[in-house]
Amino acid sequence: MLKEGYSLSYWPDEKKIYARMDHLVAREPLRIKKKAMIEYLAYFDEKCQRSKAMIEEARKCIPSGVQHNLAFNYPIPLAVAKAQGPYLYDVDGNRYVDYLQAGGPTLLGSNYLPIQEKVIEVIRDSGPVTGLFHEYEMKLAQIIKKNMPWVELYRSLASGTEADMVALRTARCFTGHSKIIKVGGAYHGWSDQLVYGLHIPQTGRFEAHGIPAECTANTQEILPNDVEGLRQLLIANQKEGGTAAVIVEPFGPESGTYPVAYDFNKQVRELCDAFGALLIFDEVVTAFRIGPGGAQGFFNIKPDLTVFGKIVSGGYPMAGGLGGRADVMSCVAAGVNPSGKPRAYVGGTLSANPMSCAAGYFAIEEIVKLDAAVKAGQNGDALANGLNWLIKKYDLPFVVWNTGSIIHFEVAGMMYMRFDDPDLARKLANNRHAVEEFGAALTSSGVITLAGSRIYTSMADTDATIQETLDAFEHIFQNIER
Ligand SMILES: Cc1ncc(COP(=O)(O)O)c(C=O)c1O
Repeated sequence: MLKEGYSLSYWPDEKKIYARMDHLVAREPLRIKKKAMIEYLAYFDEKCQRSKAMIEEARKCIPSGVQHNLAFNYPIPLAVAKAQGPYLYDVDGNRYVDYLQAGGPTLLGSNYLPIQEKVIEVIRDSGPVTGLFHEYEMKLAQIIKKNMPWVELYRSLASGTEADMVALRTARCFTGHSKIIKVGGAYHGWSDQLVYGLHIPQTGRFEAHGIPAECTANTQEILPNDVEGLRQLLIANQKEGGTAAVIVEPFGPESGTYPVAYDFNKQVRELCDAFGALLIFDEVVTAFRIGPGGAQGFFNIKPDLTVFGKIVSGGYPMAGGLGGRADVMSCVAAGVNPSGKPRAYVGGTLSANPMSCAAGYFAIEEIVKLDAAVKAGQNGDALANGLNWLIKKYDLPFVVWNTGSIIHFEVAGMMYMRFDDPDLARKLANNRHAVEEFGAALTSSGVITLAGSRIYTSMADTDATIQETLDAFEHIFQNIER
């Protein structure tokens, strides 16, 4: 363990990872042999009849039939009927080891019964929402404040996207500046101003369809780890009214798909101080998953604002919140003109409802009490080590690394593609299909991952589920076309 109470046993060497990823992206992706792929795909025809029928029906009322960006749609999306501990079960009764983890929040394992029981108790008493203050709002804020070292005040919101949006508005309200700097590739939700430089650095408005140019006019991006680029941008912004905030995913863009140097955040903090910009940590993924103090506790770096999502409602709906310095957070005080000062307008009929707050409070209490982050991190280490051993055994170019319970496994390196590559469109389609096939092969072998390139482990994984997973990977590795 690198730091007591935190899930990481090592900090990844970002230079080595970038070099291996560049090598992976430079080559055509390795594919699964045709004959093996036909067998993997046959699973969906033979064993997933009810999912198939349901999705066909859903396509008549839902665009493309699914509503989750992280759902695997190839060859068909699966309809899930049951979730328990490390497993998901589809409507045909097939069982899968669950490494999607709903996108990250279920650190205790899926559908964790002690939390479910508490939530039901709260709903029995107060219903899911009243619109008035409830004790669990305070208890959730208190437990977050107690564990996250630099959260002085906390406000519950509806999602990570909303919390990111509020963080920017608050930073602008407090500093009086407009510009926001993010790191290219990072995901901070899908609000108008933050669909900028998504997934692949330096892509600017590439994915900003339907978003007017004015909305992203004050959003800027730097390359991952580019401290000097950040300094230059801050200098340039000084001449144009200043920078309101620099927002980072503290483990690097896309939950560390682009890992950062260990001292990157410290350098960003120093630059923010020098130029009067606020530092926002987006800890939607890292808070509580990597340890009770999140990335800020792990690095011992003070952000001015922290964005929360996912775990702050224990996997139940309405997972979002903003915390930070009391003077900055005062800009988002609710009620009718509470302070008489300009405020960053924030609302939300269902935000801070008793059900979500109770779910978050009890989940965090349990995560801390049971040392869930460390246990999930040990499971992450076991799985990542096993995968690296298999990659060596079969002499494959795939890249695997982990920060505790967040495992990256790259078979095609989609996010490392170069935006200035004239062959980008063909490569994107080609590599995407390679990842889709890999994902389909894994799913038909009983393993579900996040978008085919990330694995979240939980406290509920066991030696048996990890072995089951490694066996599934090994079977696929044996069927890679050379
Ligand atoms: C780092 C980060 N920020 C923000 C978000 C957006 O959160 P939500 O999906 O709750 O809107 C996500 C979602 O995955 C995320 O990973």
